[in-house]
Amino acid sequence: MPNTGSSSPELAGKPPVGLPLWLLAELTYRCPLQCPYCSNPLDFARQGEELCTEQWFKVMAEARQMGAAQIGFSGGEPLVRQDLAELIGEARRLGYYTNLITSGIGLTEAKIAAFRKAGLDHIQISFQASDEQVNNLLAGSKKAFAQKLEMAHAVKAHGYPMVLNFVTHRHNIDHIARIIDLCLALEADFVELATCQFYGWAELNRLGLLPTQAQLQRAERITNEYRERLKAQDHPCKLIFVTPDYYEERPKPCMNGWGSLFLTVTPDGTALPCHGARQLPVQFPNVRDHDLQHIWYDSFGFNRYRGFDWMPEPCRSCDEKEKDFGGCRCQAFMLTGDASKADPVCGKSPDHGIILKAREESEHSAVNIEQLTFRNERNSRVIARG
Ligand code: FES
Repeated sequence: MPNTGSSSPELAGKPPVGLPLWLLAELTYRCPLQCPYCSNPLDFARQGEELCTEQWFKVMAEARQMGAAQIGFSGGEPLVRQDLAELIGEARRLGYYTNLITSGIGLTEAKIAAFRKAGLDHIQISFQASDEQVNNLLAGSKKAFAQKLEMAHAVKAHGYPMVLNFVTHRHNIDHIARIIDLCLALEADFVELATCQFYGWAELNRLGLLPTQAQLQRAERITNEYRERLKAQDHPCKLIFVTPDYYEERPKPCMNGWGSLFLTVTPDGTALPCHGARQLPVQFPNVRDHDLQHIWYDSFGFNRYRGFDWMPEPCRSCDEKEKDFGGCRCQAFMLTGDASKADPVCGKSPDHGIILKAREESEHSAVNIEQLTFRNERNSRVIARG
């Protein structure tokens, strides 16, 4: 869909601003699970009232008008929204490719059928572990694992490709072979083996979650062996292995650059260039007060780290800056207290020692699962009170 015009899509002397092709609709922070690596903000319990159905309709229409092509419904757990089928239906009517990102808790056969009828294109179910006990402990629910298995089957039976997401960390990454076997038994089409990234609750629990280098290398090697075997069998399942930033030497081009492609709208209507930006000392606009055209092109928050002019050294003169955009602003802020610094993941950053220290600490961590701080309302309120 073409950009239908903006008050300032091309700022004087700056490269043109990209279109918000990807809209992430964080419908709610409510969630029946309590994963200790959730990327939601630590103080989610004190966030304002959720947008209503009509307000989401307006957001979706405005973003679509500006060129958004894909929408992801996430949360919290988006299934707790009673109007989810309605929202999917409207997104489909507007012409979006629609994705549901869910834990599967609260999903039923009837809901899958209703979502299918409403035009849902894609469902991704996340698992916590291949082992029922570990999965349920991490999820904070005794029924989580059985429910997820049942719903994974049901999703496939309704004609969707089965897309599974396993978040791996030091407590489950050694079971990578079992995790892949489970995915194959479930006839998964795509499996994302995503080593935990450290935002929100994961950052709070980093010492108890970051795998060691040896754990990571072993998991990657085993995944590659499975890939070879699956390829030789012409098996349809695709395994995607995501290495955590903490074991990279160059940062990821987070969000493909600030305000260039991704637009997140949080449950209370705050618009963000990424899911982690809320923690930054930057004012972000709310869709209740402004339309998305203004938010995307003209607001201070969306322009704050756009382009390259904001960069200090070593990013400013780096010949890789157009590839990685200096990495992740949120990670730079979390680790150095200054969001305009180079992402410390980068080996050229003067703060790279923070990453090396975290790797070193992971070698000696004795934090067990029970000692992690779980993402729930009570803990969030305690954290919000300071
Ligand atoms: Fe915010 Fe990377 S998560 S810039």
